[in-house]
Amino acid sequence: MAELDTLFEAAKAMLDKAYAPYSRFRVGAALRTPSGAVFAGCNVENAAYPQGACAETGAISSMVAAGERRIAEILVIGDGEGLCTPCGGCRQRIREFAAPDTPIHIAGPEGIRRRLTLGELLPHSFGPENLTS
Ligand code: THU
Repeated sequence: MAELDTLFEAAKAMLDKAYAPYSRFRVGAALRTPSGAVFAGCNVENAAYPQGACAETGAISSMVAAGERRIAEILVIGDGEGLCTPCGGCRQRIREFAAPDTPIHIAGPEGIRRRLTLGELLPHSFGPENLTS
């Protein structure tokens, strides 16, 4: 599982970069595209609280800026005991570039805690196909 290890390390490194002075809840995300490229991001909070950005948003922005548009798998890592699953908005952001069977790995600092799919986290979703028929 070398590819998953790479994704985990990339996301974990983001925990040290996270800017979360308000929630103190650091999140990192790393995604792999079909080309094998890895893009990572961290949460970036803001004094005007609603303007904060999630870690997944940063990783997706980096991917698109690099000219790639498909997520093969994504890993999200967060502090705390619970499962740091993507928020509702990020599930939809992932949906734009992924398929129902795309793996979403949920991790803590010690390692992977759970493997889910986009379809499990966002069933019956609305996506780009809905606008082309
Ligand atoms: N957060 C993420 O970065 N991704 C998620 O999917 C869940 C929440 C961040 C946003 C905020 O900076 C902090 O976690 C607490 O909500």
